[in-house]
Amino acid sequence: MNTPDKKLIIAIDGHSSCGKSTVAKDLAKKIGYTYIDSGAMYRVVTLFAMRHNLISDDRVDENKLAHLIEKVSISFQYNNEKQRHETFLNKELVEDEIRRLDVSNNVSLIAKIKFVREKMVAFQRELSKEGGVIMDGRDIGTVVFPNADLKIFMTADVEIRAIRRYKELKEKGETISLDEIRENVSKRDFIDENRKESPLRKAEDAITLNNSHLTPSEQLDWIVERMNKIGK
Ligand code: CDP
Repeated sequence: MNTPDKKLIIAIDGHSSCGKSTVAKDLAKKIGYTYIDSGAMYRVVTLFAMRHNLISDDRVDENKLAHLIEKVSISFQYNNEKQRHETFLNKELVEDEIRRLDVSNNVSLIAKIKFVREKMVAFQRELSKEGGVIMDGRDIGTVVFPNADLKIFMTADVEIRAIRRYKELKEKGETISLDEIRENVSKRDFIDENRKESPLRKAEDAITLNNSHLTPSEQLDWIVERMNKIGK
């Protein structure tokens, strides 16, 4: 492929569990860009809120969270040995914990809170100021980087997404049922699409990628092809 001659910003948005992070990581590796997982940030705040008992019965104690959020510091590091991106909450490794289903079940409640989004978006922009970034999320092409050089909107059939996530969590040893996952995926889509702050939607200039029937390498080729067209 052509090596991009400037440090582009690539935004990948889309539905829950549709493989955004897989393709974003693959692409970042291929072209030497930085991968930023914006969803991990919302997951960290959710874990923090859960640890402080700020969430119960689908309600968040926003007043307390507004004060305590100042104590949240999020960082990322690539672990060469394990060959994976890792997420830290106040320097504690929380990568596995933030992917658990109990965190997934609460994350969309946290992600709809305005002050949480403002803080996360500021951090996302700060981390990307040098360019050369691929970021995945829900509002990257619409709100965080409305001028991104390439915007992809990813989706896949809900059943296929649920099965993929089910396999992923099973491999990590979580005891869960496919029904629970399907419910979580659909519920998160609903909250993310219908919230007031930065709802999940396709940016007007985004290209849709439905990867229901694509392998990881096919979806990577698909994006690389679009990247090669930038600036032509
Ligand atoms: O990987 P998966 O699709 O399961 O989700 P994620 O990217 O880890 O994001 C977790 C949740 O964070 C989403 O369901 C959204 O509620 C929220 N999120 C968001 O609101 N805005 C973003 N830019 C990224 C994630």
